[in-house]
Amino acid sequence: MSVTVRVPAKVNVQLAVGAARPDGFHELANVFLAVGLYDEVTATPSPDGLRITCDGPDAAQVPLDRTNLAARAALALAERYGRAPDVHLHIAKDIPVAGGMAGGSADGAGALLACDALWGTGASREELLDICADLGSDVPFSLVGGAALGTGRGERLTELEVGGAFHWVFATATRGLSTPAVFREFDRLAEGRDISEPTASRPVLDALAKGDPDALAAAVTNDLQPAALSLFPDLSATLAAGREAGALAALVSGSGPTTAFLARDEETAEKIAEALRSTPACRTARTATGPVPGATVL
Ligand code: C5P
Repeated sequence: MSVTVRVPAKVNVQLAVGAARPDGFHELANVFLAVGLYDEVTATPSPDGLRITCDGPDAAQVPLDRTNLAARAALALAERYGRAPDVHLHIAKDIPVAGGMAGGSADGAGALLACDALWGTGASREELLDICADLGSDVPFSLVGGAALGTGRGERLTELEVGGAFHWVFATATRGLSTPAVFREFDRLAEGRDISEPTASRPVLDALAKGDPDALAAAVTNDLQPAALSLFPDLSATLAAGREAGALAALVSGSGPTTAFLARDEETAEKIAEALRSTPACRTARTATGPVPGATVL
């Protein structure tokens, strides 16, 4: 017997970053959109205890020990329900690793839902969301999907209405960026400046509600983008190439280095992806639409 859960990637259509808090995290106003690039996590009983395997183009970069968010999710659920974490978790990885698209968070949320179903724990949605928030700031959104405003360190979610599908292109980069390093660079660049409290952008929320790509393109913002570009300057050329190929908006996805391009329709998205593939810092370019549902048992 086994359970497979499919979990989407995310892009931030707004990422407003406040000052560093005493616990080291930053206060955020973060608008997430789940997009149709997926990891799948399969949970199977394992008499020898917890085991993680992974396949996919980036599998070599995925840790298979207890630092993997999928392993941490299984351990947290097992501990809460007083059972042994005897599970083999296989991750079929399609979301870029260290890419700013919540790939690791997706595996955490996927493993949690898969173990809950496999073990018949029957945890409530609130309990699952609590465990997700302990695992990482983006993990609750991977469970919920759709579109949501994240506040606090990004883990407190308010679901958002979206009036239509948005077409995206995602360019993965030739190397990864560490999220803590990008936040540290944000702090360095912000030194000596007043940082205002992050708040949700009304134009972003309205554009999502209307399903209007032109309005969303005019409204998207990412406060981490200058930090990501400072650590990975070649991304500027990727952003410019996407704009030149017809993207309505071009931005760094989350902490990067994946870059995200909003397109008017599927056909333009394919054209932009083709143009991006020949830029130097781009490894692959993929199209995807959003919003899509969060973690789902298949
Ligand atoms: O929550 P998560 O483990 O995904 O965060 C990874 C790192 O990103 C944190 O250790 C921290 O350095 C940074 N971070 C932050 N403020 C947030 C979210 C993440 O500084 N709101």
